[in-house]
Amino acid sequence: MDIQVYKYKIKETFNNAAEGYDKPALRFFLSAAEHLARSMRFAGNEHALDMATGTGSVALACAQRLGAGHVTAVDLSEKMLEKAKINAHKQQISNLDFLCLDMEVSNFSDDTFDAACCGFGIFFLPDMVAGLKSITKHVKPGGAIGISSFTGAIMEPLLQKFIERIMTYRVVMPSLSWKRLDSAEKIHALYQSAGLERLHTRIYQVGYHLAGFEEWWDILWYSGFRGILSQLSSSDLTRFRQAHQKEIQLLVKEQGIWLNIEILISVGYKPV
Ligand SMILES: C[S@@+](CC[C@H](N)C(=O)[O-])C[C@H]1O[C@@H](n2cnc3c(N)ncnc32)[C@H](O)[C@@H]1O
Repeated sequence: MDIQVYKYKIKETFNNAAEGYDKPALRFFLSAAEHLARSMRFAGNEHALDMATGTGSVALACAQRLGAGHVTAVDLSEKMLEKAKINAHKQQISNLDFLCLDMEVSNFSDDTFDAACCGFGIFFLPDMVAGLKSITKHVKPGGAIGISSFTGAIMEPLLQKFIERIMTYRVVMPSLSWKRLDSAEKIHALYQSAGLERLHTRIYQVGYHLAGFEEWWDILWYSGFRGILSQLSSSDLTRFRQAHQKEIQLLVKEQGIWLNIEILISVGYKPV
């Protein structure tokens, strides 16, 4: 696929998802952001870069730890950024600014930032090594570069059921991008290729029970999966939803539906 078309599709997907991206069903993004921000081990006065900020969860978690510092947050989707600005305002956090940019073509000067992070964003880049190298260029020597990703067990068995059913419709199934970085070994290889050192990766379980099918649907509808569902006609979407609801209801237990979310938090450093 042409790279501009690919970027346009990502932007469209997240522009459409922005409205509900912060719904309670997707609160794992908030816990993940806290883990990533904590792992950055800020002193408190740094200027940090947050790439693919989305609705700002990582940027805000970092900004809270940077009482004497600042966060510059970047995203491709203007609708996600609108939400990020509202979130910052609601939380009365003002030591950050938001820029609508493609992180692959952002032209910050070399060594501008003390640290950089990217929550669930690197795996969207067609060339992850070039992308990570370019983020690294913006960071001062010795600075931390932190990312998050998901393990292969994410949202199983719900996700497998979704994929098996949606494949019975005429949709173009994109590759599940996070699978490019679903293990510590893959992340290690990426960091090494980008010339980073002292990498450490930790795995956290940030899952919880969903109240029912509606919450699972919120996750599908207000995240990257929206791009697949958007390919269905409205009648197919109704048919799909009904059939998928029936199979997901079978997984409801006393506490609800278990949403398994295992995340990888990795931090490495630019050599001095
Ligand atoms: C799954 S969301 C993650 C948002 C946030 N970092 C978090 O942890 O909740 C992925 C975000 O990456 C953004 N994105 C994808 N490719 C991008 C690019 N090339 N430049 C900037 N943002 C990008 C999307 O617009 C989307 O907001």
